Amino acid sequence: MEYSELLIKRRSSYMLKKEKVVDDEILIDKISKVILNTPTAFNSMATHIVIGLGENHNFIWDTTKETLKKIVSPEAFKKTGPKIDVFKNAYGTVLIYKDIEDIEGLKKAVPSFANRQDNWAEQNIGILAYAIWLELVDLGYGVNMQHYDPLIDADLAQKFAIPAAWKLEAQIVFGKEVIKPDKKEFKPIEERLKVFR
Ligand SMILES: Cc1cc2nc3c(=O)[nH]c(=O)nc-3n(C[C@H](O)[C@H](O)[C@H](O)COP(=O)(O)O)c2cc1C
Repeated sequence: MEYSELLIKRRSSYMLKKEKVVDDEILIDKISKVILNTPTAFNSMATHIVIGLGENHNFIWDTTKETLKKIVSPEAFKKTGPKIDVFKNAYGTVLIYKDIEDIEGLKKAVPSFANRQDNWAEQNIGILAYAIWLELVDLGYGVNMQHYDPLIDADLAQKFAIPAAWKLEAQIVFGKEVIKPDKKEFKPIEERLKVFR
């Protein structure tokens, strides 16, 4: 898809089916190219991803649901439970992690920029998440991004043998789109873009 078309096509899409739209080998190859080629501050490569498919995807959302059940009121859970089921009904989840050890190492290695590294670690995540989101849309998936970290970090760390230095930052859910997102409202472009020439 042409890049500018892809930017418009990318939306938060929630009604997704547990159905693949491309072979998993293609998905894995494309996502590995995304993480390889996405920039990080000081080329730290302090980001990691874990792709959960099949029962592993289900585990992520069953765990999220069980965790929330323990901490929200029974009344609130009547809404929360079905909301999490919507994510479970999708095809897969990409977990995005930042590497705290790498970031702390950078602070020591480059003291003059130490106070910027936490912020740039977040920017690394944002850039990577967006690149993955676009790639999944380009492959033909509907996609949304969730943040149930840090509630689920420990359970996922145990299940997927995640190193202690990896901190969960985002969960990107994808699947075959069932319902297209509603039309999006925009602030006037003049409020957000100024050109001087
Ligand atoms: C940094 C960031 C965090 C977000 N976190 C969530 C989230 O936790 N749950 C969710 O449903 N959407 C989340 N979103 C999606 C936004 O709500 C969404 O992108 C925005 O409303 C614009 O809609 P669109 O994605 O359809 O263009 C997040 C988006 C960004 C950029």
